[in-house]
Amino acid sequence: MLLDIVKYGDPVLRQKGERVGEITPKIKQLIDDMVETMHEAHGIGLAAQQIGKALQLTMVDVTDVEDRPSRMSIDGEAVKPEDYMPLILLNPEWTAVGDNKEEGPEGCLSFPEVYGEIERPEEIDVKAVDENGEAVAFRCGGLLARAIQHEWDHLQGILFIDRMDAFVRTELKPEVDAIQVETRKGLG
Ligand code: NI
Repeated sequence: MLLDIVKYGDPVLRQKGERVGEITPKIKQLIDDMVETMHEAHGIGLAAQQIGKALQLTMVDVTDVEDRPSRMSIDGEAVKPEDYMPLILLNPEWTAVGDNKEEGPEGCLSFPEVYGEIERPEEIDVKAVDENGEAVAFRCGGLLARAIQHEWDHLQGILFIDRMDAFVRTELKPEVDAIQVETRKGLG
């Protein structure tokens, strides 16, 4: 089932997600619906807050992005990221590998048509629980690392506009404000 994607201005986007305990049938259904919604919207990531639920649940899928490479390794062995997509992450945590940071463009399904450059660690180690309740750990870089950091932010109530430098944020402010006004109208 397709879910409605929450836009900027809805307070749920500022809520920190609750940890997910057991993988109940309800959570499984929510995961399926979110994957369907993410794919339909041509997003490379979707967080629970973006469909109106403040949970530590997110997913990414970088399969079809050919111009922005991703890397992934498990226990030191390189794997093909596309074999793990869509990648479902519950209660994720990450740490930067080294000090290498990279600037790159980002968009967000909750901010239609808004794109801005953001600097983030280029390579990270990720730990999470998958859709079967199994602990997973992997290292990733490139677009995949960026996408996971963007989604992790959502789970804390942090938005990509918070990560932009002041110049970029000022430039985008009229568009961002317009989305907020539109959303608040909808919320009554
Ligand atoms: Ni986003």
